[in-house]
Amino acid sequence: MKNKSLIIALLLIGIGLSAKDSLAIKVFQTYCWGCHHQTAQAFAPSFRFIANHRTRAQMLAQILNPKSSYKRLGYKINSMPSFSDLNASELNAIVTYIQSFKDKK
Ligand code: HEC
Repeated sequence: MKNKSLIIALLLIGIGLSAKDSLAIKVFQTYCWGCHHQTAQAFAPSFRFIANHRTRAQMLAQILNPKSSYKRLGYKINSMPSFSDLNASELNAIVTYIQSFKDKK
């Protein structure tokens, strides 16, 4: 079967993606969901709003060091704690997850 390796490759990509998604969802539900929701404004702006207005670097700056980022993003007060103890995979996963809510043009 000629297509077999292609099918296996696609399956592996699929597994890789869903493993990443589940890490993102774990981070989201553990640390972010109390204040941020995916598409609706809650205590904090929605991931959709963030995805449509910010770069990855701006998101990371806020997640790692909100005290020095909030003013640059136009907020008057800072009510978000720092999540600087997330590891690189968790940070990457949550930022990619936020970006997945960007509206298609
Ligand atoms: C205690 C509530 C709270 C939690 C928990 C929280 N945030 Fe926030 N977040 C806020 C608030 C409030 C703001 C608005 C700016 C500020 O207060 O610093 C904000 C702002 C942000 C912004 C920038 C918003 C913008 O306009 O671009 C990002 C990105 C962000 N949060 C990501 C996260 C992520 C990712 C998590 C989970 C790891 C998280 N936040 C957890 C309350 C929270």
